[in-house]
Amino acid sequence: MGTSSTTSELSPDASQRDVAQWFNRTYVEKGFGYLRPQHAYPIFLQLLGVTPGSKLLDVACGPGLLLRAALDKKLEPTGVDLSKEAISLAKRYVPAAEVKEGNAQQLEFADGTFDFVTCLGSIERFFDREKALREIHRVAARDARFCFMVRNSATLVWTVWRRWLRQQNHQGHQDAASLEGWIELFQQTGYEVDGVYIDQWFRQKLRRALRGFRAHDMSRPEPIARPLLPLRYANEFIFILRKSGASSWPKSQNEN
Ligand SMILES: C[S@@+](CC[C@H](N)C(=O)[O-])C[C@H]1O[C@@H](n2cnc3c(N)ncnc32)[C@H](O)[C@@H]1O
Repeated sequence: MGTSSTTSELSPDASQRDVAQWFNRTYVEKGFGYLRPQHAYPIFLQLLGVTPGSKLLDVACGPGLLLRAALDKKLEPTGVDLSKEAISLAKRYVPAAEVKEGNAQQLEFADGTFDFVTCLGSIERFFDREKALREIHRVAARDARFCFMVRNSATLVWTVWRRWLRQQNHQGHQDAASLEGWIELFQQTGYEVDGVYIDQWFRQKLRRALRGFRAHDMSRPEPIARPLLPLRYANEFIFILRKSGASSWPKSQNEN
């Protein structure tokens, strides 16, 4: 989900420790500038249809931007991230949230703890995605809802930069998968897809520019951008999911 690239490269056969160190360096060099600004985050909570007082876990929370948005919505946020630099930034940025260093593949939380789980711009970086998704499933309540933003491998940019120029798994071990690939992975690991949206960030920026950089009134829901091209060509997908077999929520709940 980064907005800019960094000059230090990771080899494709990097270890998990190398990835953690790559992120530590990136957060030391760029801090919050590595990521989108704070106002890009509430929309994920809007799509999830969060309710005040609920427990939310943000997996791979970085410096805590989503945690801050969750706190503003009166949730009880918890974050976990591989990078100790991310965690130290998050502790300062959102002192009221519980944050800890850890690997998504081995979450130190009891079964069924969380009502909502987010994981943004990160699943494609995990070494063992299946294991992480099963862990996220385990720590979530029976009727929990999930918001995962993941990178699409079927774009021209990905094909050229990552595959032809052999950049796959460089820069924080970033990878990608197709729309069908992600759906299959989520279904295999116990999730049911309730909705798939395009990444909202481009349209959020455009609306802001057209408003003359006036901020969106955060007390009101933001419009949800629909794809102009077929969804399969989006740069990133936002998935809203539930556990397989759990009852679905009315669609209107997350779209307004
Ligand atoms: C692109 S950043 C996204 C940060 C945050 N989700 C956001 O959108 O603001 C990716 C994050 O994934 C974390 N990460 C990578 N692999 C991880 C793993 N196996 N377990 C936990 N966090 C991980 C990195 O430390 C980094 O903070």
